[in-house]
Amino acid sequence: MRDPPAHGIRRFCAASLLMLAVLAVLVERSEVRAQSKPEAPSESRSSKPTIANQSTFLPRAAFVGDAICAQCHREIADSYAQTSHHQTSRVADGNAILGDFRDGSNGLWSRKLNVRFAMNARDGKFYQTASWGSESKTSFANEGSAHPVRVNPSGSPYSRTEPFDLVIGSGVRGQNYLYWREEELFELPVAYSAQVRQWIVSPGYTNRAAIFDRPILPRCLECHASYFQSVYPGLELNMYKSQDVVLGISCEVCHGPGRVHAESGGVAALHGAAIGIVNPAKLPAARQDDLCAFCHAGAGVELRPAFSYVPGEVLSESLDLGESESPSDSDVHGRQSLLMRKSRCFKMSATLRCTTCHDVHRPEMDLARMSQHCLACHEVKPTAAHTRAGKQIQSNCIDCHMPILESKIIELDVDGTKVRPRLRSHWIKIYPASPW
Ligand code: HEC
Ligand code: HEC
Ligand code: HEC
Ligand code: HEC
Ligand code: HEC
Ligand code: HEC
Ligand code: HEC
Repeated sequence: MRDPPAHGIRRFCAASLLMLAVLAVLVERSEVRAQSKPEAPSESRSSKPTIANQSTFLPRAAFVGDAICAQCHREIADSYAQTSHHQTSRVADGNAILGDFRDGSNGLWSRKLNVRFAMNARDGKFYQTASWGSESKTSFANEGSAHPVRVNPSGSPYSRTEPFDLVIGSGVRGQNYLYWREEELFELPVAYSAQVRQWIVSPGYTNRAAIFDRPILPRCLECHASYFQSVYPGLELNMYKSQDVVLGISCEVCHGPGRVHAESGGVAALHGAAIGIVNPAKLPAARQDDLCAFCHAGAGVELRPAFSYVPGEVLSESLDLGESESPSDSDVHGRQSLLMRKSRCFKMSATLRCTTCHDVHRPEMDLARMSQHCLACHEVKPTAAHTRAGKQIQSNCIDCHMPILESKIIELDVDGTKVRPRLRSHWIKIYPASPW
């Protein structure tokens, strides 16, 4: 542990130097920006985007980590620690993994893959083993893949075991598990679904052949973690320095690098305004929307290396989210930003933001409290449906106007039965079916 900041002249000098360095970087970055503006005309979007060189990476020394923020923002840090954002990626230990390792509950037979899986715990470590028999020989002789699976020539069951190293997903909906092979990061074939409360074949595995070979690319980690150092920055490869990893979504993902702010004791000021930290509430509306859209508007196409977007920047310079109306854009999975924008509430009011309804520092999502936010802009008119709904209406506008719908693009395979994840639609409107 380090001392609290802002003690002694040496530290002060170091802080000032660092502040200058960071300012210099910021100035340099904004100059680059200034030249690259105005925004590219829409026809240039269709040309294949290229990832810019790695000079856009932020110096990691500008970040301090959540433990330092917590020294001065204890209350926020304590409640934030309970949120899905904080818990969305973790080291795989007994607390983080939600699936069951007890005998009788630790197996999974996949008809689709023709593989038997077993999940086992040994000496505080957790493993997945896939076994298959001779009849599936040809299915798994996947020549041409980066890591072909050997087929046992004797025809007896062949198996392969890999460890649970990292967990992706807080578990509200489900979890994926990852493992390292040297510097390469892959997804394990068995995942967990909270909807059916059991192990399932990971939705990413549709190919019969490649069972342990799904690479975890930077964009996946950018939405579910704070930092991974690529071995080849800017390239779409699943190779990272495993010791240079910040799991969970940390304070600085939404507030920007905080060393200058932390080392000045929170009071560094330039022309009277706090500097060195971003308060999203003080950003222009479009930049606030960008921050949440960074992870809540679909994968898009990266225009700069992963982990280089900083809150307050124009998101479209880092990420091309496209403007198409393809069916997947309307999907309820991970598309809250796009759906909110389709709502008349958003189009006809200048003030509807994600933070109108969500306090991201707290885990709670109480429908009655959420409904109070609707009433800040609406009176309940005595329409037919409202009158029919009667009293309970006051505590729940949500289930009728933001119903829970099935994802159309994600499909889970649960013992051969297809199950679709159910998510809250953020397209606020009049839906035909009443849930009551
Ligand atoms: C040494 C104590 C200290 C540390 C460490 C610290 N802060 Fe602060 N922070 C403050 C103080 C004091 C203020 C209030 C400043 C003011 O009112 O002008 C503040 C204000 C803020 C604000 C609001 C700024 C604004 O313009 O409204 C944010 C956001 C913030 N801190 C986030 C963070 C984050 C994130 C970290 C970790 C990277 C962090 N702080 C670390 C003391 C600290
Ligand atoms: C760096 C990516 C990232 C950013 C930025 C981000 N989110 Fe999220 N958010 C996620 C991920 C990933 C999840 C799913 C976490 C999980 O359950 O594992 C999530 C989940 C949520 C949830 C559901 C929480 C729950 O308990 O199920 C809400 C609400 C939410 N985000 C709101 C916001 C808002 C509002 C903003 C902007 C202020 C924002 N997010 C910014 C990645 C992000
Ligand atoms: C564009 C950002 C983004 C990308 C890329 C992304 N996710 Fe997500 N993911 C989210 C958000 C947001 C949620 C919250 C649920 C929702 O809105 O669908 C989520 C939910 C999840 C969940 C369920 C979490 C829970 O709370 O139960 C898992 C597991 C998951 N993602 C795994 C992955 C994996 C593995 C990858 C990469 C192979 C990936 N995601 C890529 C944003 C993203
Ligand atoms: C997912 C994005 C996100 C994360 C992660 C996040 N914040 Fe915030 N934070 C926000 C937003 C958005 C606001 C502005 C809220 C509003 O509109 O009033 C904010 C406001 C603040 C403020 C100033 C207003 C206040 O409530 O006092 C402080 C201080 C702060 N955050 C500290 C933290 C700290 C410390 C952490 C980590 C423990 C953290 N935040 C994590 C998005 C985030
Ligand atoms: C920031 C203000 C604001 C908030 C918060 C808000 N709305 Fe709206 N909403 C509006 C405006 C403005 C309109 C457009 C009114 C019009 O068309 O005259 C609207 C339209 C609607 C409509 C009609 C939609 C259509 O397609 O015809 C419904 C239904 C609705 N809102 C429900 C809700 C519900 C439910 C909530 C809470 C979950 C909510 N609104 C939150 C401002 C808001
Ligand atoms: C039982 C389902 C249900 C509930 C609960 C419900 N609504 Fe509605 N709402 C509807 C339907 C359906 C309509 C279309 C008019 C009709 O058929 O009566 C509507 C219409 C609206 C409209 C547009 C009509 C207009 O002229 O203003 C708004 C705004 C609205 N509702 C807001 C709300 C708010 C705010 C709440 C919570 C206090 C709420 N609704 C609760 C089903 C519901
Ligand atoms: C008008 C209020 C409102 C606004 C605005 C709003 N949300 Fe939500 N959000 C909700 C409600 C209500 C839920 C469901 C809570 C529940 O079911 O427990 C929810 C749930 C979520 C979830 C969890 C998804 C799930 O299916 O469980 C995520 C992620 C999320 N919101 C992100 C966002 C983001 C990002 C924005 C801005 C683009 C946003 N929300 C804007 C009201 C809102």
